[in-house]
Amino acid sequence: MCGIVGYVGSKNAPTILVDGLSHLEYRGYDSAGIVFYENNKFNIIKTEGRISNLRDAIPFESPSKVGVGHTRWATHGVPNQVNSHPHKQGKITLVHNGIIENYTGLKKELGNYTFNSETDSEVACALIDKLYNELGNMEEVLEKVPSMLKGSYALGIVVDDEPNKIYAIRHKSPLIIGVGDNENFIASDVPAILNKTKRYILLDDFDVVILSDEIKIKRNGNFIEPIIKEFDWEVDQTSLNGFDHYMLKEIYEQPDVVRRTIESFDTNEFPEFTSYEKIEIVACGSAYHAGLIGLHLIENYTNIEVSIHVASEYRYKKHNFNRKTLVIIISQSGETADSLETVRIAKENNIDTLGIVNVYGSSIARDVKYLIYSKAGCEISVATTKAYLSQITIMGLIASKIAKLDKVDSEHLIKTIVSVIEKREIYDNIANSIYTKEHLFFIGRGIDYYLGLEGSLKLKEISYIHSEAYPAGELKHGTISLVTPGTPFIAIVTDESIAEKTISNIKEVKARGARVILLIREDLFEKGDYYDEVILIPRLDDIYQPLATVIPLQLIAYETAKKRNCDIDKPRNLAKSVTVE
Ligand code: AGP
Repeated sequence: MCGIVGYVGSKNAPTILVDGLSHLEYRGYDSAGIVFYENNKFNIIKTEGRISNLRDAIPFESPSKVGVGHTRWATHGVPNQVNSHPHKQGKITLVHNGIIENYTGLKKELGNYTFNSETDSEVACALIDKLYNELGNMEEVLEKVPSMLKGSYALGIVVDDEPNKIYAIRHKSPLIIGVGDNENFIASDVPAILNKTKRYILLDDFDVVILSDEIKIKRNGNFIEPIIKEFDWEVDQTSLNGFDHYMLKEIYEQPDVVRRTIESFDTNEFPEFTSYEKIEIVACGSAYHAGLIGLHLIENYTNIEVSIHVASEYRYKKHNFNRKTLVIIISQSGETADSLETVRIAKENNIDTLGIVNVYGSSIARDVKYLIYSKAGCEISVATTKAYLSQITIMGLIASKIAKLDKVDSEHLIKTIVSVIEKREIYDNIANSIYTKEHLFFIGRGIDYYLGLEGSLKLKEISYIHSEAYPAGELKHGTISLVTPGTPFIAIVTDESIAEKTISNIKEVKARGARVILLIREDLFEKGDYYDEVILIPRLDDIYQPLATVIPLQLIAYETAKKRNCDIDKPRNLAKSVTVE
């Protein structure tokens, strides 16, 4: 979703802003813009489409030392230049990430202003200008803003009267401060500033930030001494390092991610799982699919009752919490609005929360009672791979901890993962047979169905091929009517206890002309005429088997999207972190 970068220092601000924005491209956007101080005024440049358009439009040489930039992911109003940020009203120019829920009412109250765009953000801009005219002091204005704006916002603001400063405030939308040497930044996310500084400050909701050559933060009416932290992510995590796409690079990073995840799993930091009667897992998208693996493992290896929920549904459902419920929230970004709301609901009901989060210092990471950081590092590709793998590794580690199983043989696990990634040619051949199709099915039972859901999501989001994952036994209750000669099926068979049943279902679709790509654990494979192509998956401990099984699905999606010339790292309409409802 929208990305913000702000700069105050001694270097060329437009160039620094555009560079920062280019590192936020992964968040998803459709237009971009900057405001910078030059020739005694704040200048705005905005362009539709890619950052490269903005880069072409900014002055090559600029004496400007102050500015704010923005990538917009349209919510209110179509993606075009007028709706893109920054917006200016009176003396105020701002960029906004989030949604102002009461903007229609505010717009009526701000009848003296002329609005050029259809956005909620321009209304916030006019409101701040009005308050500034009344109060004459930005600090006071920003202290008043929370009582007037409803919804979520991270705002980066410049004021005509104060050309050397940036003001900022956040509520439910991410914003951090980067602390450099004689330069300071605001940013939505770590990658925007990682090649400039590793030192950062986390902001609480409603902190008033005044950024110049010094950093002032006002919290609850008082200036505070900020705590400066240091990222442990490396700069090269935000560059391609010779790979064609971040998604591919991140798939190749998975063996390391699994190693880090296992090594850093510190059991002392966790709640005593057995003291809970009920676990509710809540997440969105791939994180939800990782939760399904958790559900399967915890159910199978322990006696704790587990349920799983999509966060956008969970937040509006009736809850039957009891004191012995643990809510586990899984999120790569730690900023997904619906997942964050889950934490709030649980806390409001005095229910313990455990977050499995990838991004350091993110809102969910800061709000949960217990926290496990997944060790994926900075994930740039919109389609998650390594963060998902880290999440399912953690699910396996949690299940084995509760069930008191032996430690995993991580060397063998990692070697196996490497060997699966290396079979690129096989995945490329499969992609050749499906990339011209418009529909595809994934089938499996139990954990294999859950992996199918993730494979299907990967394929949909980056190749735009419509696909559905189905529990193999459920097909004949309706969906099998869609099978015609040549309909592609990816059938997953790794769970020995149910393999025969799945193979019967595969034979049913094969008999109706389906083209079957069989993904099967190598020791379960028997030659026959029930498949067209086969991928053999090396056997792992049941708990960690999904780690090897999902990789071919990731790579089939990748190779297929590549053959369809799709924008793999930035699929249409998608944002890396969904910070609005
Ligand atoms: C996965 O490839 C998606 N991009 C998406 O489903 C994602 O997993 C979902 O939006 C949840 O995000 P989070 O993990 O940052 O909360």
